[in-house]
Amino acid sequence: MVEPIYLSTRSEREKWIREADYNLFNLRSEQVYIDLLTDSGTGAMSDKQWAAIMTGDESYAGSSSYYHLKETILTLFGFEYFLPTHQGRAAENVLFSVLVKKGDFIPGNAHFDTTKGHIEFRHATAVDCTIGESGDTSNLHPFKGNLDLQLLRETLGKHPKENIPFIIITVTCNSTGGQPVSMQNIREVKELADQFGIPVLFDSARFAENAWFISQREPGYENKTIREIVREMFSYADGMTMSSKKDGIVNIGGFIAMRNKSWYDESCTFNIMFEGFVTYGGMAGRDMNALAVGLMEATEPDYLASRIGQVQYLGEMLSGYGIPVQKPYGGHAVFVDAKMFLPNVPQEEFIAQTLCIELYLEAGIRSVEVGTLMADRDPDTRENRYPKLEFMRLAIPRRVYTNLHLEVVAVALKNVFDRCDSIKTGYRIVSEAPILRHFTVKLKPTR
Ligand SMILES: Cc1ncc(COP(=O)(O)O)c(C=O)c1O
Repeated sequence: MVEPIYLSTRSEREKWIREADYNLFNLRSEQVYIDLLTDSGTGAMSDKQWAAIMTGDESYAGSSSYYHLKETILTLFGFEYFLPTHQGRAAENVLFSVLVKKGDFIPGNAHFDTTKGHIEFRHATAVDCTIGESGDTSNLHPFKGNLDLQLLRETLGKHPKENIPFIIITVTCNSTGGQPVSMQNIREVKELADQFGIPVLFDSARFAENAWFISQREPGYENKTIREIVREMFSYADGMTMSSKKDGIVNIGGFIAMRNKSWYDESCTFNIMFEGFVTYGGMAGRDMNALAVGLMEATEPDYLASRIGQVQYLGEMLSGYGIPVQKPYGGHAVFVDAKMFLPNVPQEEFIAQTLCIELYLEAGIRSVEVGTLMADRDPDTRENRYPKLEFMRLAIPRRVYTNLHLEVVAVALKNVFDRCDSIKTGYRIVSEAPILRHFTVKLKPTR
């Protein structure tokens, strides 16, 4: 499939971003030249996936597409029980409705925003136990998604077991820069969790990219297949939530899967209420069929080498221009260190958002802020939470852009970098939602 992209002038972009209240989520796609907002649901499906679409079974109950997906999930992850959902946050909604209650604590590695949103919405607390190295963009630690075992032990010891329904490991860890978690760390987290009698869940959106990094960086895994690595990773998990829009390489979809029948039985009720009957959960049969094929394609080594190679290509170009980025480069995106890039913009004026807007004005390239806007307000004090790092994320859709597109991105960002000292002010909030505000926030320039 080929889709057109649209060139624009700077004066058009100035008007459009003003009309969008300086929120890039509010732009129309025609107002964007190269769209690196997200790698979620933006990938291109393969010939085999389109063929699978044509043989989708749209029966309300018990469709062959459901069983195709169920068997694929069992083969890849080893989980007997599974429920389709319409996307990843819906998977969180269903499973957390069973597991999370007011006053709970949920340790993990830099929980993704919707995960944290679903935890805080239930008046529970997400406890970030990521290793300190992930906060230093120049530190070349190979697994910056790892959990700090000491911190995790302290967290598990501090609260009664009944108030820790699970530990959640995000593979790869989006919020720290698409950074992987090592097999050793996963194994050690599981051992610790077992000592305290607490289950382990994976937020699995980019499980295949995580497995790729293990195969490339962790001693002992260089001769294992990606699927063997995936199978071992998930042998340490009790359950998973999945946004299929990433490593499922489909445009919409999600699921939960688990070993435990009682979790499954309880989740079924919520799935039926929120998503749909247990054998479709908000997905069309054809989409489940395409997902089953996509999950297998995402675990092909040639695909992963090219996918992650493209992200590295962009990272190398930016580094070549001296632009500060999270290193090693992530699996799905290059994360630009906005605090270092724009040292003159105060953090209260949303540094990373300011950089995203500057890149859009420069060349019509859409990126996303992973910084103070996304960190939201503290649910108790309502004060802004200021994260250690302010990132502009350049997420690369799967199988969509060529390296030439990425060269345009790199040169455009270099142009902004050349004038970074002259950018001294940012934005203030005009209006915001009480939770997950970054999607709909309205902003104005401070000057
Ligand atoms: C790590 C992670 N978890 C969960 C989600 C939520 O998935 P969805 O957008 O399908 O609701 C995302 C989406 O970007 C993600 O990156």
